[in-house]
Amino acid sequence: MKTTTLSLMLFAGTALAALPAQAAGSLNLICSADVVICEQMTGDFQKETGIKVNMVRLSSGETYAKIRAEARNPKTDIWWAGTGDPHLQAASDGLTLEYKSPMLDQLQDWAKKQAEGSGYRTVGVYAGALGWGYNTEIFQKKGLKEPKCWADLLDASLKGEIQMANPNSSGTAYTALASLVQIMGEDQAFDYLKKLNGNIAQYTKSGSAPVKAAARGEAGLGIVFMHDAVAQTAEGFPIKSIAPCEGTGYEIGSMSIIRGAKNLDNAKAWYDWALKPEVQSRMKDAKSFQLPSNKSAEVPKEAPKFEDIKLIDYDFATFGDAEKRKALLERWDREVGASAN
Ligand code: F6P
Repeated sequence: MKTTTLSLMLFAGTALAALPAQAAGSLNLICSADVVICEQMTGDFQKETGIKVNMVRLSSGETYAKIRAEARNPKTDIWWAGTGDPHLQAASDGLTLEYKSPMLDQLQDWAKKQAEGSGYRTVGVYAGALGWGYNTEIFQKKGLKEPKCWADLLDASLKGEIQMANPNSSGTAYTALASLVQIMGEDQAFDYLKKLNGNIAQYTKSGSAPVKAAARGEAGLGIVFMHDAVAQTAEGFPIKSIAPCEGTGYEIGSMSIIRGAKNLDNAKAWYDWALKPEVQSRMKDAKSFQLPSNKSAEVPKEAPKFEDIKLIDYDFATFGDAEKRKALLERWDREVGASAN
């Protein structure tokens, strides 16, 4: 066979193979979970559907700010993952679209409640409890005591050892702020956060960064979701995760379709797909150890179990409210952020 004929055939083959993908179109997605699971999910979805996914990883608070800013001309079709509060805030601002997935019946009650509470403008995709992870080698070397309670984090010996994220950008840190307010009352929580500020080395942008820093030995302890601490342990780092003795809050990681999405059918295709048990069961392959929302999905053996953790009855309606968020963050900026290192 002549080379030209062969190249023509090859070209025709390539063009044909590309056809379904073109026909399937694209999807603009913001992913607010860890970048490794974001890449796994988008890669799998593209392979299974032929839909090209343009994915950006942004923290939960950053995403909420972006979709608010772009409300008149949305550049995003779907927002997958990230803490539930800003998804609820986006829902109450009318930034996200009502959608009742045929998959809803397969979900845990907490995931369905998230949908019902938002008028079906968001839905739960996973859940995880807040706590911290500390580097056992650093603690041992420096002779530091294991902090078991929120109160222990104020100990003077931990000065400069703790990292947490900034609650403006990070959903994890907003969950911490809202949880402390629910555990202690607002004024006492701010007193606590002002004292804690003395021990904080850095406020990071993303929620899981503090425990990644602790894993690398750049910090002693990171206030994070416990599944993010466990992920570092699974990577082989000397990280121990702790559920605070006074009790703690939790997230219902969520998913929302953006109102005005240009690729609405593809956004719905992702939405239904991401709620499938087999898709959620694969999340652990990316060391994403949250509790899955589909009842038939496999619960990773590494996932911190809610039964073992003293959980508060987190008030999603109050702390998922846009005005409440604004007020708490303004107070945090004034009383804590302004005097941060
Ligand atoms: O790393 C995963 C994760 O903790 C999710 O469980 C959570 O929804 C998200 O990150 C929150 O990220 P951020 O605090 O950066 O908004």
